[in-house]
Amino acid sequence: MNIDVFTLFPDWFSWFSSQRHVGNVLASGSSLECINLRDHTPLSGGQVDDTPFGGGAGMVLRVDVLDSALRGHYGVDPVELRSSRRVIALAPGGRLLDDELVDELALEPALTLLCGRYEGFDERIIEHFASDVVSIGRYVLSGGELAAMVLCDAVLRKLPGALGHVDSAGEESFSAALEGNPEYPHYTRPAVYRGWRVPEILLSGHHERIEQWRRERSRERGAASRGEPGGG
Ligand code: 6GU
Repeated sequence: MNIDVFTLFPDWFSWFSSQRHVGNVLASGSSLECINLRDHTPLSGGQVDDTPFGGGAGMVLRVDVLDSALRGHYGVDPVELRSSRRVIALAPGGRLLDDELVDELALEPALTLLCGRYEGFDERIIEHFASDVVSIGRYVLSGGELAAMVLCDAVLRKLPGALGHVDSAGEESFSAALEGNPEYPHYTRPAVYRGWRVPEILLSGHHERIEQWRRERSRERGAASRGEPGGG
């Protein structure tokens, strides 16, 4: 997968790219490129944002700046771009990122992520350049960068080569394999610590009963997280 991130803070992503699981996917044919919006602005002094029409606090990312950054990078009119690849604007009011959307995005050959700052984007960026608007939760971050990293992390770890073990991403929290429920609890050595015992079933070697126990715990956690009775 090829991911391009348009941001005012490309440096933030060097820490992210240097993490081992990210490095692993990048080494197996994926790419993560950051494009600094200030390098592409047609305005003087590296200006990229402006005060909102109608008044109000904060600054808004300008549509002409995004137009020239996308056009400069891809060599096409950005209005055409979203028919050839997902162009995702990160904004708090967007579609909530969940495992289903992550799976959907992990199938894409290429993603373009647009990070807004301050008060976000001129709405015409969303209307004319973006194919999707994605949010990572109902709270406001000071920019889209951390959200873009969250999205990249969640998507890249689904790709082959990201994780040590091939099955690691298959039967994890919120996956179809667990009917969308959170993962069951895990334990490792020591089997008893300060008198706290690991559930006996896990030490029994009965693989079918262990599977069944894990399904049950996973369903319980799902019910609890939805506030349903019987959820513990
Ligand atoms: Cl994608 N952007 C910002 N600025 N805040 C957020 C967010 C995105 N998702 C949750 N909060």
